[in-house]
Amino acid sequence: MSALDKYIVTEHDVLIIGAGGAGLRAAVESSAHGVRTAVICKSLLGKAHTVMAEGGMAAAMGNVDDRDSWEVHFADTMRGGGYLNNPVMAEHHAREAPSRVRELESWGAVFDRTKDGKILQRNFGGHRYPRLAHVGDRTGLEMIRTLQDHGIHQGLDVYMEMTVAALLTSGGRVVGAYGYDRERGRMRVWRAGAVVLATGGIGKAFRITSNSWEYTGDGQALAYEVGAELQDMEFVQFHPTGMVWPPSVRGILVTEGVRGEGGVLRNSEGRRFMFDDIPELYRNQVAKDEDEGWRYVTGDKHAQRPPELLTRDHVARCINREIKAGRGSPHGGVFLDIGWIKERMPNAREHIKKKLPSMYHQFMQLAGVDITTEAMEVGPTTHYVMGGIRVDGNTQMSNVPGLFAAGEVAAGLHGANRLGGNSLSDLLVFGQRAGEHAAKFAKSNPAADVDVAQLERETARALEPFDRPNGENPYTIQHDLQDVMQDLVGIVRTQSEMEQALDRIGGLNARSEKSGVVGHREFNPGWHTAIDLRNLLTVSEAVTRSALDRKESRGAQFRDDFPTKSDECSTFNTVISKGGDGAMKLERRPISKMRPELTAIVEKNK
Ligand code: FUM
Repeated sequence: MSALDKYIVTEHDVLIIGAGGAGLRAAVESSAHGVRTAVICKSLLGKAHTVMAEGGMAAAMGNVDDRDSWEVHFADTMRGGGYLNNPVMAEHHAREAPSRVRELESWGAVFDRTKDGKILQRNFGGHRYPRLAHVGDRTGLEMIRTLQDHGIHQGLDVYMEMTVAALLTSGGRVVGAYGYDRERGRMRVWRAGAVVLATGGIGKAFRITSNSWEYTGDGQALAYEVGAELQDMEFVQFHPTGMVWPPSVRGILVTEGVRGEGGVLRNSEGRRFMFDDIPELYRNQVAKDEDEGWRYVTGDKHAQRPPELLTRDHVARCINREIKAGRGSPHGGVFLDIGWIKERMPNAREHIKKKLPSMYHQFMQLAGVDITTEAMEVGPTTHYVMGGIRVDGNTQMSNVPGLFAAGEVAAGLHGANRLGGNSLSDLLVFGQRAGEHAAKFAKSNPAADVDVAQLERETARALEPFDRPNGENPYTIQHDLQDVMQDLVGIVRTQSEMEQALDRIGGLNARSEKSGVVGHREFNPGWHTAIDLRNLLTVSEAVTRSALDRKESRGAQFRDDFPTKSDECSTFNTVISKGGDGAMKLERRPISKMRPELTAIVEKNK
């Protein structure tokens, strides 16, 4: 009898973990390179956080404003990212996004059109020109639908409702993954020549989030455990507009597309508070009055953009300020009003329902609010992590040979903050690159033998919670962790609160090691939570340690005790890895230098 007999073993050339936009795009590419490709989904195929990028994908196509170009997109992305971005990735992204969008269209995505039949593009925060190719407010959904159809027809193996509990390594490279199916708890080994992680974000480490249950930092933690480096984990994006009421829907995304279509933010006094604080960096780009902002929304090339379309970190902080100052809405948010456009647009109601159909239904059905006539109540929600696995900017391979990463789980493109709409284009551009390079790697590195001792260790670790039927329920610990992260490592941070958080995370780790589950492996959500919890604890510690080390405010990180940018901190990326003693190790790595041509582009577009 072989040691592998108790596992269901399959073999593929490229194994992709995660089936959102990045995972599916990587799968399509890998399969097109003629290698056997499999995709593992934590949930069902088609259910991905990608659908929460509702407002569109950024690509400098210049369909609405012909002054746009890849150079301006590059400069906007770098500025938004506080210049900590990997410039190689930012250049690939800005140059390749338009082709990736057109390719998606050729595979069946049905975009909204301009009057002359081109792909329509809308305004979004931090983008100099209208740049987001969109499908109403369901762009992410359309992307997933298209990639899924295309990929399945091209030929992929798909494993749904699986938990991946560990990556398998041998001879210094990744050779597959170990996990189980969530329905029956049957143990599985996927052998592979290369593995692409595309598992998305870490939103479930926080109490208020737009992310659904799957987003527990799995890819970041799996990679960390086998020696990959995590970069810039301090940068967690709080999207300014999530629902705040009723409590059961708190955190659900309210797309930035609402502001892109003319929605304005007001406080309880009815004032557009976003005019109160325009950052120096954007003073020459932002409207001084309401009229000019509206002209921009309706496509006047010479108007300045409204302050509601400043970067997300800034808008979220302004909203927080109003709430803290007692000028918030009844349920602890502020007001977002799109209905006001009826003063300027005869067919406003139809326009809103056509451009924002999901928002219309979401508010009508979940909150009983008609957004064409009533203001929405909104507040910040944890949406995205800019940090993640450190990868090579050309190939997407991590420092662990054979391990690739793409999309939200990878770091680099967005630096200290991501512009809205840059995620969908990120998924396409770097999903394609990861798929191509993983396929090439797998062709010269076929699946190798699994290290049975490692596999046995990982199996024992995964099953450990069953040994402690009287242990604490992992749900309680996850809940407490969310409170710690939300309250102590949230939108506004301080050293003393983050030190407290680290201390509490240590305590939660200890509790997690003693947590237990009852029953058996079939249909056991408590067990799944115990595994997720380990990942959440790892990424929460990485976020907190990185945030403590960065003694400045930049992009998505705002420190009350260091409220400005620091020159010293502009020189490094934070890198976390697992030390030889098993403890988390933090280093500062010099940021990648920009080619002189790119520096000139940034200067020209300031
Ligand atoms: O607001 C939104 O539609 C989100 C887009 C994004 O995160 O890119």
